[in-house]
Amino acid sequence: MASAPLAPLIPLDDGRSIPQLGLGTWPLKDREAEEAVATAIGLGYRHIDTAAKYGNERGVGRGVRGAGVPREELFVTTKLDGGYQGDDRAIAGLEDSLERLGLDYVDLLLIHWPLPKRGKFASTFRTFKKLQDAGLTRSIGVSNFKPAHLRTLIDGTGLTPAVNQIQLDPTITREDHRAFDAEHGIVTSSWSPLGGGAGATDLLAHPLITGIASRLDVTPGQVVLRWHVQAGLVPIPKSKNPERMRQNLDVFSFDLSAADLEQLATLALGPGAGVDSDRTGH
Ligand code: A2P
Repeated sequence: MASAPLAPLIPLDDGRSIPQLGLGTWPLKDREAEEAVATAIGLGYRHIDTAAKYGNERGVGRGVRGAGVPREELFVTTKLDGGYQGDDRAIAGLEDSLERLGLDYVDLLLIHWPLPKRGKFASTFRTFKKLQDAGLTRSIGVSNFKPAHLRTLIDGTGLTPAVNQIQLDPTITREDHRAFDAEHGIVTSSWSPLGGGAGATDLLAHPLITGIASRLDVTPGQVVLRWHVQAGLVPIPKSKNPERMRQNLDVFSFDLSAADLEQLATLALGPGAGVDSDRTGH
């Protein structure tokens, strides 16, 4: 299968950059993850997203190391599990992830969930800075952070995350999160960008999306991923199917019109849609 052109790079506030589209790996197990990652890299993916909590870092690492692309051309993200928040425990958390991945460093380390009731995300992020200074992660960021969590983190540490990875799709649009991130130079990345699992089927079968797809001669998944890309987001669609992986990366050579975007905006469910990270997380 022919590979798609590489995703463009988006600059991060710390002087580094992130490929604008990556492969999500939840809920793949080690063996599936290894195969999916190796296939994706062969197709032109350069950005791979995992997490300690996914339980697949060994497989992801094998896929990354076996793909035949130099390590410095790849962008690997992992996320710290909640049990490692606070008291410099993130040091052991990242060291354990690196051991499972079989890598010397990751490109991006994220706090997986804010877990605001524990009150440890700010001190955890201070530890992240030490890990960045030590070269064990190139960039540092957060996931599932609301504006209020970010305000606490920035005020409490004087540090600003490079990335905030949150649940986003044309129905879950979180305008307030994206505006806060943009004002603070934080790149917003989209998890479950296609609507996620069974939900993806519903979103991708929506007549508005299938209508735009057939007019542009692309697939519904490509319409949705193009929506993310035109909004300046960094989607990380998960697929273990090589043909869908190929399609998902091939979203940089067509445009949604202003009228398409206006129509897609009608799918938004409004504030409060999606996972609430004050109540969820690990
Ligand atoms: P599969 O792995 O069989 O491709 P999300 O990243 O939003 O969580 O969505 C992941 C889900 O969407 C998975 O079930 C994945 O299944 C499916 N999926 C991924 N890419 C596409 C696509 N282009 N069209 C339809 N379904 C897709």
